[in-house]
Amino acid sequence: MENSEIVVFVTDREGSEHTIEVPVDMNLNLMEVMKGSDLDVKATCGGMALCSTCHVYVLSTHSLPEPTDAEEDMLDQAFDVEDNSRLGCQIKISAELNGLKVKLAPEGA
Ligand code: FES
Repeated sequence: MENSEIVVFVTDREGSEHTIEVPVDMNLNLMEVMKGSDLDVKATCGGMALCSTCHVYVLSTHSLPEPTDAEEDMLDQAFDVEDNSRLGCQIKISAELNGLKVKLAPEGA
């Protein structure tokens, strides 16, 4: 694998783990990556931190940038929020995230 690609692991709502190779130089976010891999992420708001359909739980210990106020506000209104909840659309793909493991939150969360 080239350095310009990382691997992320996404567990879907049925419990299957998907291994996804992601280019780091395309300015993608995790929501786009999941959607692009046909995972069930509606992304109704198009990545504006306004719908929470890209809600994931972060299972690995990667240190992610702190959530913005917009992300915090949206998570305040979402269901099934846990300490490790994040909005996929607010997680920018970078080389540091190689091996990131997340799990999709329940639908409507
Ligand atoms: S896509 Fe809507 S909050 Fe992430």
